[in-house]
Amino acid sequence: MSKILIVGGSSGIGLATAQLFAERKHKVTIASRNAAGLDHPGFCKVNLDFTDKAAIKTFFEVYSDFDYVIVTATTPLAMGSFLSINLTDAKKSFDRFWGMVNVARYAAEHPKNLKAITLISGAAADKRGAFVTYLATGSTPRLECIG
Ligand SMILES: NC(=O)c1ccc[n+]([C@@H]2O[C@H](COP(=O)([O-])OP(=O)(O)OC[C@H]3O[C@@H](n4cnc5c(N)ncnc54)[C@H](OP(=O)(O)O)[C@@H]3O)[C@@H](O)[C@H]2O)c1
Repeated sequence: MSKILIVGGSSGIGLATAQLFAERKHKVTIASRNAAGLDHPGFCKVNLDFTDKAAIKTFFEVYSDFDYVIVTATTPLAMGSFLSINLTDAKKSFDRFWGMVNVARYAAEHPKNLKAITLISGAAADKRGAFVTYLATGSTPRLECIG
């Protein structure tokens, strides 16, 4: 049995992943911002905002015995043609990148049982053709970006 933390585990890919691991008798903790969203049976739950560096740091100082840490949490991406994108929204798109950095950084500081950190990216991490302007390209790191 492994201990698995899924940041973003209250819905979508994170929740489906949590359910698969729980079915296989692993101990799964799901984390996200909204308490109501965490109301799924069979998991440990924790309210965490992965963009809150201090909260992530403190969490891993206290809970440092995960075998696997998975991040599926996402923040809204600003997409569109370069001239149409609101730059404030575009800057916020990179919160996802830094959220993942926060989790990877502070989980890795406590490598007691840690075997892997998995970061789930999306379409915005794809390299696009010359005429496609995703300003958010690269805002979701592939694993090799981290280390
Ligand atoms: N859906 C697809 O078909 C697909 C395909 C390929 C890749 N992806 C990628 O996979 C990832 C997950 O997609 P999804 O469809 O599963 O997303 P989703 O259903 O919207 O789930 C996002 C999860 O992240 C949590 N979250 C959001 N902001 C957070 C924050 N600041 N701190 C902690 N948790 C936060 C959400 O809960 P709270 O709002 O309560 O915090 C929720 O649990 C995304 O990066 C997406 O681009 C998705």
